[in-house]
Amino acid sequence: MDNTWPYHGSSTTGADIHPIRYLDWYIPRLQQMRKYNLSYSGLQYVWDFEKYLAQSLGDVGYHHIPDLPNPEQMVAERYGVKSENIVITQGATQALNIALLACIDSSDNEKNTVAVELPAYAPVVQTPLLLNCDTIPVQRHPPADGIGPWRINKNEWIDALQQSKVLMITPQLNPCGWDYESNDRKWIIDTCKEMGIPIISDEVYIDSMKGTDDYKPFHLEGEHCISVNSLTKIYGLGPLRFGWIIANEEISLNAKRAFLTLSGMMASPTIRLASAVFPYLDLAIEKIKHYRETNLPVLREMLARQNIAWNEPPYGVFGAFKLPNNYDSMKFVDGECADNSVLAVPGSMFAQELSGWLRVAWSIEPKLFAEAILNLEKALISIQ
Ligand SMILES: Cc1ncc(COP(=O)(O)O)c(C=O)c1O
Repeated sequence: MDNTWPYHGSSTTGADIHPIRYLDWYIPRLQQMRKYNLSYSGLQYVWDFEKYLAQSLGDVGYHHIPDLPNPEQMVAERYGVKSENIVITQGATQALNIALLACIDSSDNEKNTVAVELPAYAPVVQTPLLLNCDTIPVQRHPPADGIGPWRINKNEWIDALQQSKVLMITPQLNPCGWDYESNDRKWIIDTCKEMGIPIISDEVYIDSMKGTDDYKPFHLEGEHCISVNSLTKIYGLGPLRFGWIIANEEISLNAKRAFLTLSGMMASPTIRLASAVFPYLDLAIEKIKHYRETNLPVLREMLARQNIAWNEPPYGVFGAFKLPNNYDSMKFVDGECADNSVLAVPGSMFAQELSGWLRVAWSIEPKLFAEAILNLEKALISIQ
C-alpha cells in the first residue's frame, strides 16, 4: 500500500466515499500481535469495572435513564461548564460529524468549504467530504530548528480561511504530540473570530495537560470555538465509545438534534460504564505522568545513542522523529520493525510529507516498554 494519508478535496457520495486508508494498513498489523507495540496513541490502562460498578454490574444490560443522572451533567462538572453546553456522542469521531452538522451554514445554497489542518486523523479530514463540503488543507510544519512546537504559515492559513466556512484543527497534533506555539494559537482564534469562522477543535489528546497552566481547551476561547473530546486516548477507554462536544448553547442544541436524528440514544452499557469510572478519571492522568517519568528517559537515551534528533513534546504519550537516511517509515515498520516484533506508526498515516517520520508511543507499562525500545534500536541500527 503506497498512499495512506487522509483525502482532501471535493465532497463525496455513494461509491465515491473514500476509504479510511490508514486503518486498511493498521488493522492487519495490529492483528499480527507483534510483541512490542509502540503504536498505541492512547494510554493502555486496565479499569477495574467490577470494583467501580460493584452491585450494579448486573444492570449493565438495562436502560440507564431510570437509574442514573444525566451524563451531560457529569461531563459539565468535570469541565466547569453548564450541561446545556454538552452533547454526549459515540466517541470523538462521531462528535466531529455532529459538530460540523451543527455549525455549518448552508442557507446561501453555496457549496461549503472547510479548512482542515494537516497532519490529521483521517476522519477529521474526511468528515466534511461526507457532509457535502469540500476541504482545503492548512498545514502545521516541523519547526525550522527542529526544536519546539510545530508552526503554521499564516499566509497559507489566511488564503485557506478566506475560502472557508469552518476550521477543523487538532491542537495536540498527531503524530508529533506538540500543541500550538502560543502566538500561532492566538492568531488562529482571533482571525477566525474576526472572519466569523467557527473552529472545531479535536482535543482527544489534551487532557494529559489537565491541572497545568498549559491546559486550554478551545471552548474557553469564545462563542465561535467548539471542543471535541472522548474517553478514548488519555483515559484508555476507546472501546466504550463515549465522547462529547462542548459548545455554546445554540450550537449544542443543534448538535443534540443532529445526534438524536442520526443515533437515537446513547447505548446504556456505555453510559453505565462511563458513569462508573468518571469520578476516577484523574488516575489515568497520573498514570501518564508516571509513564512519562519512567519510559521517556529510556527512549531519549536510545535515540541519543543512535544520533537521532528528538523533539520531545511536553505532554502526552507519543512523539515522532525522522528516520536516518530519509528512510521510508512504512518500509521500516513492515521490514526491520517486523523482524524485531516491533509495531510503530508511519507518519504517512497523517500527511504525505511525513513519510520519513515514525510515531512512537510510551503508553505501555515500563518493563515491556524498555524491551520494546531495545528492539526498536536493533531495527534502527539495521538502517543506519
Ligand atoms: C486526533 C484524533 N481524534 C479522534 C480519534 C478517535 O477518537 P474516538 O475513539 O473517541 O472516536 C483519534 C484516534 O486515533 C485521533 O487520533
